[in-house]
Amino acid sequence: MNIIGISCFYHDSAASLIRNGEIISAVQEERFTRIKHDASFPFNSIKYCLNSENLNWSNIDAFVFYEKPFIKFERLLETYLQKVPYGFKSFKLAMPLWAKEKIFQRQLILKNLYLIDNNYSIKDKIFFTDHHHSHAASAFYPSPFNEAVVLNMDGVGEWTTTSVYLGKNNSLNLKKEINFPHSLGLLYSSFTYFLGFKVNNGEYKIMGLAPYGEPKYSELIKKHIIDIKSDGSFRLNQKYFNYTTGLTMTNKKFSELFKINERKNNESLKQKHMDIAASIQLVLEEIILLITKNLYNEYGNKNLCLAGGVALNCVANGKILKQKLFKNLWIQPAAGDAGGSLGAALAIYYEYFKKKRITKKNDSMKNSYLGPSFSNIEIKKFLDKKKTKYKFENERNLISSVASSLSKGKIIGWFQNKMEFGPRALGNRSIISDPRSNEMQKNLNLKIKFRESFRPFAPIVLKQKVSKWFSFNGSSPYMLLVSHIKDEKKLKVEEKKYKGLQKLYLKRSHIPAVTHVDYSARIQTLTKKNNLIYKLLKKFDEITKCPVLVNTSFNVKDEPIVCSPMDAYKCFMKTGLDILVLGNYIIDKKKNNKILK
Ligand SMILES: [Fe+2]
Repeated sequence: MNIIGISCFYHDSAASLIRNGEIISAVQEERFTRIKHDASFPFNSIKYCLNSENLNWSNIDAFVFYEKPFIKFERLLETYLQKVPYGFKSFKLAMPLWAKEKIFQRQLILKNLYLIDNNYSIKDKIFFTDHHHSHAASAFYPSPFNEAVVLNMDGVGEWTTTSVYLGKNNSLNLKKEINFPHSLGLLYSSFTYFLGFKVNNGEYKIMGLAPYGEPKYSELIKKHIIDIKSDGSFRLNQKYFNYTTGLTMTNKKFSELFKINERKNNESLKQKHMDIAASIQLVLEEIILLITKNLYNEYGNKNLCLAGGVALNCVANGKILKQKLFKNLWIQPAAGDAGGSLGAALAIYYEYFKKKRITKKNDSMKNSYLGPSFSNIEIKKFLDKKKTKYKFENERNLISSVASSLSKGKIIGWFQNKMEFGPRALGNRSIISDPRSNEMQKNLNLKIKFRESFRPFAPIVLKQKVSKWFSFNGSSPYMLLVSHIKDEKKLKVEEKKYKGLQKLYLKRSHIPAVTHVDYSARIQTLTKKNNLIYKLLKKFDEITKCPVLVNTSFNVKDEPIVCSPMDAYKCFMKTGLDILVLGNYIIDKKKNNKILK
């Protein structure tokens, strides 16, 4: 039984394919169209799911869309009508589009699917799941648990913004929910907007900025903006927001409360911005910890699953673990709406078709390596066409050569096997480098990624050695947990002499490139299952006695992660990357200066 899940028309379009419950493929449309967070119908992603398995519509048993368009339409309509005439401006802008495209989404989806293959009738095979149900399914069904509490937190789907499900074998039951406009995702996005970053994109930056500030405004936020109840449920004071009807996230009252105007994109970051970032991060953590504490007490279950965009806040996730209530935590790596495509397909398979579910020891996500791959033959053909000078190495020599280059400070574009699903590069489409260098963070941010200098980089570390370097002893295969550098790996710095971004270039540990200003690090642990990147890191450890590498996604700022050899090559050419590794081929920038234009 083959099922295709689809998410689109909001942000992060994606398609997933499952076969008899096994996750076969999952990919975001942005990787093909090269438009970051592309929200359009995922033609390319669906075609990839089909072609890579030699399928056509006659082989597909169900197509599942990740939310219910009519309910979402109702929410938009009701919100606008409540606020008339204030919301009329955005109503006028949004409604014609909705009326034309989104109300008739079933027909639109069918029409688009027939553009891919119109040889078979599929009109009786279209299904819809609730947005939060899709998130819940994406978190529970691939997890290793037979039973779990599932917490979903995002901006908004149809109406729901926060939901709790209980998962048991092949079923999910909704227990409680919080509805729009009260939303942790929208709260955090409002601060993202206020601090001058892009909504649905800059949320990581707020999290990265927070450690540079003091949470001076957290009480102010709790007093005026959000009312937090003892069970962790909350209400946002709409007096300060504009997102229900306006075209901005926050309003004048919000600025007045913080006695500062919203930051413009090119305005320099001041200490106050960092203090506000620290404050909202702290408030978010407090709420999440309160929710999880109550869920633990209420349901007495030792397993917790998370999904929804807020579950990408790895600092908060790390604190859930530190809380030591839930024994096990599993987070869907594509926790945002892209993952909804996978959840939607899994929900129909288990709950509509009532299929038996068999859990796997770690999980069923296959390291999230679920996208396109390219053979050495395809790579050679591409490189020859580009007249590139390269060297082919067998696996052993490839690993030795790259590990040696890394130990000499070279920055490497590493492209292997299947592309990752979700926002993180996990060692198949990664830029990797030596974390021991004090200059590496600056170089990577400014010469390779062309992004804000304050943004931290994440370490990959051999799982068997993680506890020697970090206060962490578990497994974090998807880089969704934050922990801290161990005391014995820290270096003494005169912290008090420095303020704000001055703190950035202090060498605060033996692996400064992956040590944030508060000594935190967003860890990915590697095991043998990660294959080549694991072998590479093992070799690097042999040479340097350091089982850690910097791992950042293979892209530049505001571009999607590379998908094909061509994308990787383009990124290699326009950045300060020293070496590109495509499959078993090594391309050295120095030897190609004349050709690479
Ligand atoms: Fe969502």
